[in-house]
Amino acid sequence: MINSVNKRKGIILAGGVGSRLTPLTLATSKQLLPIYDKPMIYYPLTTLMMSGVKEILIICRKDHLESFKKLIGDGNNWGLSIEYACQKNPRGIAEAFLIAEEFLGDSPCVLILGDNLFYGNNLISQLQNANTNEGATIFVYPVSDPSRYGIVNFNKNKKAINIEEKPKNPSSNFAVTGIYFFDNNVINFAKELKPSSRGELEITDINQKYLDKDNLNIQFLGRGMAWLDTGTFDALQEAGSFIRTIEKRQGLKVGCPEEIAWRSGLINDIQLRKLAKKEKNEEYSKYLNNLLLNF
Ligand code: DAU
Repeated sequence: MINSVNKRKGIILAGGVGSRLTPLTLATSKQLLPIYDKPMIYYPLTTLMMSGVKEILIICRKDHLESFKKLIGDGNNWGLSIEYACQKNPRGIAEAFLIAEEFLGDSPCVLILGDNLFYGNNLISQLQNANTNEGATIFVYPVSDPSRYGIVNFNKNKKAINIEEKPKNPSSNFAVTGIYFFDNNVINFAKELKPSSRGELEITDINQKYLDKDNLNIQFLGRGMAWLDTGTFDALQEAGSFIRTIEKRQGLKVGCPEEIAWRSGLINDIQLRKLAKKEKNEEYSKYLNNLLLNF
C-alpha cells in the first residue's frame, strides 16, 4: 500500500496527429474536439480527479499548447495544479514517462490517454483502489475488435501470461484500456525501451515488464461500465450520443470538472458559486448553482 496516496501524480497524454480524424484535426488537437457538450480532454481529466490525483501534467503538441492552456489554465479554479509539457513527435505512449521525468520526481503516477472515456458504476472505487496499489495496475475490458488494442492473454487459471499490442490473431478479447497506474520505476523502464517495429516506445512493453516481475495488478472493468475511444468519426459521434443520452436522462453532467472538484472537496461551496457566476453559458451556470441547492 502506498503510504501517501495523494503523492501520486497524473499525466494526460494529448499529443499525436489525429490522422484518422482529418480534416477535423488539421487546425486543432483531437483532444480538444467536442464530445457532446465538453472538450474531449475534460473526460480523462475528470477521471484522474476521481482517482484522487491533484497534480497533473498535460503533454501535448507544441502547436496546441496555447489552446490547452487557454482552456484549462493552471487548474487552480478546480483545486488542481496543472503543468504542461510538449511532445515533439508521436514517438509512442511510453515516451510520456521520459517527458514527465522531472515533473514526477520520485512520485508514483497514473497516465491516461487524452482520448479515452470511462463511465460507470464503481469506477471511482476501482480507480481509488488502484491508487493505493504497489507496482502497476492496468484495467482490462472485453471488446469485440481485440486486434485494435493491447490485449492480455490468460492461461486456464485466469493468470495473465503476456500482453500483445494489436495482435493479428488475438487469443483473448480483453483489451488494455488507456489508464495505467505505475510506481516510480516506470521512468527507468521507459529508458530501457527500444522502439517497436512501428517506431514507437510501446506502453505494452512497459506493462509486460511489470508482468515479468510479477508486479502487475490487472483489474477487470465489468460489462456495466463504458470504455469508449474516440479515434474515428463514428466513435466520436457515438461517444457524443452516449454522453448526451445519459445527461438528458439524468439531468446530471458527465465529466464536469467544477462538479467533480466540488464533490471531492477540492473546492468549497463559495468557490463553486464563484465559478457559476463567472460562467458565460447560462445553462451551465444554472447547473453548477443547482448542485448547491439539490445535493
Ligand atoms: O486506447 C487503449 C489503447 O491505446 C491500448 O489498448 C494500446 O495498448 C495502446 O497502444 C493504445 O493504442 P492506440 O493505437 O489507440 O494508440 P494511439 O496511437 O491511437 O494513441 C492513443 C492516444 O495517445 C492518442 O490520442 C494520441 C496519443 N499519443 C499517442 C502516441 C503514440 C500521443 O500523444 N503521443 C504519442 O506518441
